[in-house]
Amino acid sequence: MNALDKRKIIIDTDPGIDDAVAIAIALFDETLDVKLITTVAGNVDVEKTTNNALKLVEFFGKDVPVAKGVKKPLVLELEDASEIHGKSGLDGYEFKEPSRKPLEDKAILAMKKVIMESDSPITLMPIGPLTNIALLLSVYPEVKGNIQEIVLMGGSTTRGNKTPMGEFNMATDPEAADIVFRSGLSIVMCGLDLGENALLYKEDSERIRRLNKTGDMIYSLFKHYRGGSLHKGLKMYDSFAIAYIVEPEMFKTQDCYVAVETSSPLTKGCTVVDLNNYWGKKSNVKVCLGVDEDRFKEWLINAIAKCI
Ligand code: RIB
Ligand code: CA
Repeated sequence: MNALDKRKIIIDTDPGIDDAVAIAIALFDETLDVKLITTVAGNVDVEKTTNNALKLVEFFGKDVPVAKGVKKPLVLELEDASEIHGKSGLDGYEFKEPSRKPLEDKAILAMKKVIMESDSPITLMPIGPLTNIALLLSVYPEVKGNIQEIVLMGGSTTRGNKTPMGEFNMATDPEAADIVFRSGLSIVMCGLDLGENALLYKEDSERIRRLNKTGDMIYSLFKHYRGGSLHKGLKMYDSFAIAYIVEPEMFKTQDCYVAVETSSPLTKGCTVVDLNNYWGKKSNVKVCLGVDEDRFKEWLINAIAKCI
């Protein structure tokens, strides 16, 4: 497939162990052209997520630029998830310190340039809090004309994993999520509902370990990932976003009206999904309600097999 036919994407990420798997898959998928990786504060602070993104592109030997994003949510203070991903954000594998540096341009300017200079629409794949995306759309609204869709990991049709009703990416920056969900852009939401039903078990992780250098690295990270355990099953949340981009037919989806709670201290960050259209509002989000679990696992393992 020549470069002109590939789907152009920008990954906005807070690596993050499950982010690392999604980034690996995206970088080695022959149908995709990853134009830029932008980093955001989330799982760990933005200095670490930026350094981790640089470590990953260097590990994979890919010449994809990395641009550093904002260091805190729009309103709230950052509450990271280092208990899940480790202090570094990628505990478990000793990456070499990266030789390359992030772009001079910060994330939203770098995204704006890529989007406005592209001769075909760009897909945004945010797999962390939506702070950068909200700022991009607010500061440079002209980019909306050349964004194909936003395929994000975040939210839930049920409960949360950071607060009782808040999924981590949404609850970390509810105000940013509200801006993005109100943007009028085509949004696909890959929420917690998927991760709870498509767990990687020990035998799956062992298969991944034996694949290649990337599989071995991922296995080392998995041993430190607190998004489950090797035995109880690991939740590969961020990989659902890349899976939807390359094989959407694996997913059961429903177009719904979705709003983000930003005021209640009890439910801030909750994605309120109007599955039964009680409010009669026009849908603004394609919500992924489920995934073919066996097919997703085989797809994930085959995708990692394409890495170095
Ligand atoms: O709730 C899961 C999300 O929060 C994933 O993106 C994970 O990396 C963390 O950022
Ligand atoms: Ca993430």
